[in-house]
Amino acid sequence: MLDFLILNQYYYYFFSLSILIVLYVLSIKKTNKNYNKKLEKEVNKQLLLLRQKDELLIAQSKLAAVGETLAHIAHQWKQPLNQINSVVLNIEEDFDENKLNKKLLEEHLNEIEKLTFYMSDTITSFNTYLHPNDKKEIFSIKEAFNNALELVNKLLESKQIKCKLSIKEDSLIKGVKNEFIQALLVILNNAKDVLEERQIKTKKIAVRIYTKNFKACIEIQDNAGGIKDKDFDKIFDPYFTTKPHSQGTGHGLCMAKMIIEKSMHGKLNVKNEKKGAKFCITLAKEMR
Ligand SMILES: Nc1ncnc2c1ncn2[C@@H]1O[C@H](COP(=O)(O)OP(=O)(O)OP(=O)(O)O)[C@@H](O)[C@H]1O
Ligand SMILES: [Mg+2]
Repeated sequence: MLDFLILNQYYYYFFSLSILIVLYVLSIKKTNKNYNKKLEKEVNKQLLLLRQKDELLIAQSKLAAVGETLAHIAHQWKQPLNQINSVVLNIEEDFDENKLNKKLLEEHLNEIEKLTFYMSDTITSFNTYLHPNDKKEIFSIKEAFNNALELVNKLLESKQIKCKLSIKEDSLIKGVKNEFIQALLVILNNAKDVLEERQIKTKKIAVRIYTKNFKACIEIQDNAGGIKDKDFDKIFDPYFTTKPHSQGTGHGLCMAKMIIEKSMHGKLNVKNEKKGAKFCITLAKEMR
């Protein structure tokens, strides 16, 4: 009888303990379920926040790219606009002096046309800038340099600057031609500015086109005395300028370096030679 009672009690304890365990497991499951739901909600909330932050970052970088491109175009337009202005003044002057015959007028108009074509090309390259692989072509360095010279020649002549071109060996290169011309214009314009600013008597720009170690090279050197030591390491920095605010943005060389090195995978370097600064562009040669 005693045995039976002990056994019964034992069963009773065992049964209660089992129920307690089941209840405990069920309660854990429930809290786990609640916790999982909470966690899921929190993860979704954080994901949404991250997605919104991503969208904001993308919008900001797009805005920065547009700003950069606008600065790029503004820089490219500044010089042809100045030149168009000076051609218009020349037309006025020729008219006042009774020199304006049909031939002279045609010459002036042709020059304006050349400049406006270049400006419109700049807008096309705005698109190319956003889609860098479009519009790349193979062209000769000599041809591109002559195109650049056509755009600044009148300006250089008016400042009594002689530009001497020597070609040892021309090469074909690959890129967006208009951008390459723009890089050359940046260097030529800087040479013109420094020659004027330092009032050099016999103002010269020497250009050499050659090949070295199977690479295409173009060198542009002026005789204005070179880049000041304190500025030498900074000239390719964005917005670095030694010119008054109205004359320089400091955008030129930074943009030229981007065109030559990022877009065309070449090199743009500078050295101070005895006579003045020498800018060297090195690019891979292409076959047609
Ligand atoms: N040939 C040179 N000789 C001496 N200094 C130069 C020469 N080319 C450039 N520099 C220096 O490098 C600086 C930066 O040139 P960069 O073309 O980037 O800007 P900028 O000419 O000042 O302005 P902009 O953006 O209008 O061209 C110039 O302000 C000038 O001090
Ligand atoms: Mg410049």
